[in-house]
Amino acid sequence: MNKRSLVSIDDLTTDEILKILDLAKEFEKNPSQLLLTGKIIATLFFEPSTRTRLSFESAINRLGGKIVGFSESGSSSVSKGETLHDTIRMVSNYSDLIVMRHPVEGSARFASEISSVPVINAGDGANQHPTQTLLDLYSIRKTQGTLDNLNIFLVGDLKYGRTVHSLMMAMSRWNTTFNFISPEELKMPDEFKLYLENLGLKYYEHSDFTEIISRADIIYMTRVQKERFSDPIEYEKVKNVYVLRNSILANTKPNMRILHPLPRVNEIHTDVDNNPKAYYFEQALNGVFTRQAILCTLLGIK
Ligand code: CP
Repeated sequence: MNKRSLVSIDDLTTDEILKILDLAKEFEKNPSQLLLTGKIIATLFFEPSTRTRLSFESAINRLGGKIVGFSESGSSSVSKGETLHDTIRMVSNYSDLIVMRHPVEGSARFASEISSVPVINAGDGANQHPTQTLLDLYSIRKTQGTLDNLNIFLVGDLKYGRTVHSLMMAMSRWNTTFNFISPEELKMPDEFKLYLENLGLKYYEHSDFTEIISRADIIYMTRVQKERFSDPIEYEKVKNVYVLRNSILANTKPNMRILHPLPRVNEIHTDVDNNPKAYYFEQALNGVFTRQAILCTLLGIK
């Protein structure tokens, strides 16, 4: 059994990332290929999800694989007190690969150490979301024609937003200029800034971006992660700090694109949706092709 897990984006070499993006491009041209016939994939979602779970399940169905699992832990024996350890030991007996989302940071690494089959981290708390990053890279390369030398604005909840943590780590490989835009309470954590500093890379922190928006190649908006706040009053203070509207996009580069991992709440006004620079719904579609490529790569197929 090939047991190659994907827990952090740093589990992949740059060459492996680029191969996954190339394979995703093939799947975009021809999404229905019976490459997972006879394979059973477990999708264990201990936290809510629309895109990650359903795009994985769509990817598996298009590849002819079968799915077991749950979309909320309340319907599993976790509700009777079963531990994550025992759950993973059981499910790895029933499947060829496990896709898992869990609220606890580090839970995916823990599961990968217990499991006898590969584990894909579909989001572990505020830590990492590597498959989102691969579809983000796919979307960036597709819209910009390159991953090299881009100016990326990461906007919103940089403290709890796992997608920006993984994306920042990945984009550090391509000479990216990083602009971090957040309220003081939701700044990029020191450990991720240190990650860039250790690589000798610069980043710039701002509380507003209207004055510098013309420099952006990608504006990556994020939702303030309500579920990670212990104090609801703290959430209320920061929830609407950034709202992207059409009116502030006038002076942006012609090829600039707006990404968002979704779901959005208020941070992108619906008046942006018909702007040709809005790319978030196409980005989510790219998740199917990218996840097809990830599944095949980890299972050693194609
Ligand atoms: N982007 C993302 O992870 O969305 P879901 O929470 O809907 O899976």
